[in-house]
Amino acid sequence: MAKVLIAGASRGIGLELAKQHAAAGNEVIACARDPQGAKLLAEAAGGNDKITVEQLDVADPASVDAAAKRLSGPIDELYVVAGAVGGMKQSLDDIDIQEWHRTLDVNTIGPFLVARAFKPHLAESGNGKLMIITSQLAASTWPFGGLYIYGTTKAAVNKVGQILALDWKEDPITVSLMHPGYVKTDMGGPNAEITAEESASGIRSVMAGLTKAESGKFYKWNGEIHPW
Ligand SMILES: NC(=O)c1ccc[n+]([C@@H]2O[C@H](COP(=O)([O-])OP(=O)(O)OC[C@H]3O[C@@H](n4cnc5c(N)ncnc54)[C@H](OP(=O)(O)O)[C@@H]3O)[C@@H](O)[C@H]2O)c1
Repeated sequence: MAKVLIAGASRGIGLELAKQHAAAGNEVIACARDPQGAKLLAEAAGGNDKITVEQLDVADPASVDAAAKRLSGPIDELYVVAGAVGGMKQSLDDIDIQEWHRTLDVNTIGPFLVARAFKPHLAESGNGKLMIITSQLAASTWPFGGLYIYGTTKAAVNKVGQILALDWKEDPITVSLMHPGYVKTDMGGPNAEITAEESASGIRSVMAGLTKAESGKFYKWNGEIHPW
């Protein structure tokens, strides 16, 4: 039985990861920035002794540090799933700069803060694995313009993951980056290509197979390496 922490588990891919890990018998710490408002998570956790709900806002350093302090002990798998699109105004001619700053906090600095705060927990596992859910839009191979906010904040978090893997070379922690697919969630919308169930199942299987030798790599949900 593994101990799994999910940052951003209130809905979408994070919630599905929580459900699947609990069904597999793992102990799940499902974090949401607003546990009171996280109705779907409350439903999944109700009566399920495998899921514990905790407050953690990735964009708030005090919240991240407080969660890391409260949750002592080893963590085997940590998924940073929390993410934001960055609003509708992100074209060259119509862009919301304040929203760009806020999205940087969630998509880029948030995963860094979570990684830093929970490093001792991952190390204590002896074989801790950190996975940051990013996007294909992070890649230099993404062939479309626009989406300055989402694209840059995801590209930057890929670099965060790569640097973490280098900095933690001597630590018993594997770092990975994951494009979860184009997924039918609030973010992906109903016309996306795969369901949250398919995405989470693929992500879990990639995570299960990771070894230290793969640290720093960028994957697709189906296990392929994502070029970037
Ligand atoms: N869906 C896709 O097609 C797709 C494609 C590529 C990459 N992704 C990435 O996959 C991840 C999950 O996406 P999704 O499709 O499941 O999106 P979603 O349904 O919109 O869910 C986003 C999740 O992030 C949480 N979140 C946002 N800001 C947060 C914060 N400051 N602290 C903690 N949690 C926060 C949300 O919590 P609240 O409920 O509190 O808002 C929610 O649980 C994201 O990183 C996204 O960028 C998704």
